[in-house]
Amino acid sequence: MYQYNYADQTLVEERVAQFRDQTERFLAGELAEEQYLPLRLQNGLYIQRYAPMLRIAIPYGLLASYQLRKLAEITRKYDKGYGHFTTRTNIQLNWPKLEEVPDILAELASVQMHSIQTSGNCIRNTTTDPYAGIHQNEIADPRPYCEIIRQWSTFHPEFAFLPRKFKIAVIGTENDRAATRVHDIGLHLKKNEDGELGFEVLVGGGLGRIPVLGKVINKFLPRQHLLSYLDAILRVYNLHGRRDKGSKYRSRIKILVDTLGGPAFAKLVDAEWEAHTKDGPLTLTDANFEHAASFFSEPDYKEFDALQAQSDLQQQLSADKDFANWYNQNTVAHKIAGYRAVVISLKAGLVDGKYVPSGDVTDSQMDALADLADEYSFGELRGTYQQNLVFADVETNKLYELWQQLSDLHLARPNINTLTDMIVCPGWDYCSLANATTHNIAEQIEKQFSDLDYLYDLGDIRLNMSGCINACAHHHTGDIGILGVDKKGENWYQISLGGNSSNDAKLGKILGRSVPTEAVADTIQQIVDVYVDLRATTDNDVESFGELVERVGIDPFKEKVYG
Ligand code: HEM
Ligand code: SF4
Repeated sequence: MYQYNYADQTLVEERVAQFRDQTERFLAGELAEEQYLPLRLQNGLYIQRYAPMLRIAIPYGLLASYQLRKLAEITRKYDKGYGHFTTRTNIQLNWPKLEEVPDILAELASVQMHSIQTSGNCIRNTTTDPYAGIHQNEIADPRPYCEIIRQWSTFHPEFAFLPRKFKIAVIGTENDRAATRVHDIGLHLKKNEDGELGFEVLVGGGLGRIPVLGKVINKFLPRQHLLSYLDAILRVYNLHGRRDKGSKYRSRIKILVDTLGGPAFAKLVDAEWEAHTKDGPLTLTDANFEHAASFFSEPDYKEFDALQAQSDLQQQLSADKDFANWYNQNTVAHKIAGYRAVVISLKAGLVDGKYVPSGDVTDSQMDALADLADEYSFGELRGTYQQNLVFADVETNKLYELWQQLSDLHLARPNINTLTDMIVCPGWDYCSLANATTHNIAEQIEKQFSDLDYLYDLGDIRLNMSGCINACAHHHTGDIGILGVDKKGENWYQISLGGNSSNDAKLGKILGRSVPTEAVADTIQQIVDVYVDLRATTDNDVESFGELVERVGIDPFKEKVYG
């Protein structure tokens, strides 16, 4: 994992001191609200319904155990004892006190963390595949490239005031687990015929009020040009993206790319690149790549007798159905024999009858997870697009004891990729932009779909729910998307079907008129019933929810729901 050098540490500490001074001046009435606003946004601080909300960056989702312990301590000392992991692998605190935020930032700096560029119209945290570096069929590890992008984009003076926020995601396998097609820039590592590394570059994806999928503007960009080309894209966006009054929903790069069309946008980028940045000081060298890669070297894997490990595991799996369920749903193949990745479900659902919001983790769970990471996964964790956490490197012969400990912490619910592995934004419970609540709806769905065997029979179904059109929970790309809408002061919910954020990315189609709060779970049940009735099955294959919607469209679902 990347370690700050002296310059990084100094920069981050100076930033804390600066923000402390700005906050003190604001609280003393020496800075006006509108003067303080851009300063706090540059430090990830929003003002929400009840309190400020602080978004803390977790670069490309990678977190060391000592950092998680510090986060636990911060939530205990300055907040209400929990944090919320987001789809962009950051963590948010919902209850910090404004006057204490500089202290929180100082604590974060002590473990090489910060909240710089987690809000505002700048380049945000770059995200990636949670299984980076451990997949058998990986083209290359994306993390060094994420780190190179992080260093280039942090404090980049030209890109601190873009027309709008800017998000980049990078993947290194054919399988997109980072929703790259709905990012402002998506980068896919590729090898050309000569075995050289480069990137397929997609631009202009994004959801929100106007959802658009990214377009390929370069099929193979040799990797040494990564930064000079990104710089050219950002320069074109800075110059041509809309900033005029009234362009609030038209200022993201997706609108520019869509308006011009992919080829015309690519031409502008190429012209900018050739004229100003190509082969200039941003050109990366082998030494740059080696330096970046040195922070992501393989951990000290043990060698196992693979057959013995497999046979021991088989015994445990046959002896304990609950363990087998968890193993099947929540663990992932690893390139090293004798290891697997473990997904820690942050979708506990109902615990002692009380709904736990997706992505929420308490301070004591964080402390325990930090200890487990040290014991079972080389002291590291990773955040996922699905608002879960991952231990990337667990010995298969330790899976059983790890599962038992995670179960005691309510962190081993075997529901990954099922209907209850929902992405859910905070909605009106915290967010001042919300049109509707989300947690009460998620609770209804949890109650309706509590039977695990039934969920397994349904297979993978992604359900994403946002409390307003800003689409923080990417409802457009869920197999089932739920969007909260306000109708004369009442909460209603619009449902869409057939979205997908992965390789075959698609935007869901709206089913019809929205449904009232009390009808949402029943409506989802009707939708699922149609799926069960119509899915095609063969001896060894069952048509997935997404495949069925692709085949039959939304009419059969419409008929069932609206009669
Ligand atoms: C409660 C505080 C939050 C506020 C005020 C907020 C605000 C916003 C706004 C205004 C946008 C739309 C920007 C645009 O289209 O130009 C947005 C987008 C987004 N937010 Fe949030 N958000 C919050 C929490 C979250 C959380 C908890 C998550 C993750 C679970 C999240 C993930 C995202 C993502 C992924 C997008 C991009 C959607 C897209 O592709 O256009 N946000 N947010
Ligand atoms: S989707 Fe809307 S309600 Fe949900 S967090 Fe984003 S801005 Fe708030």
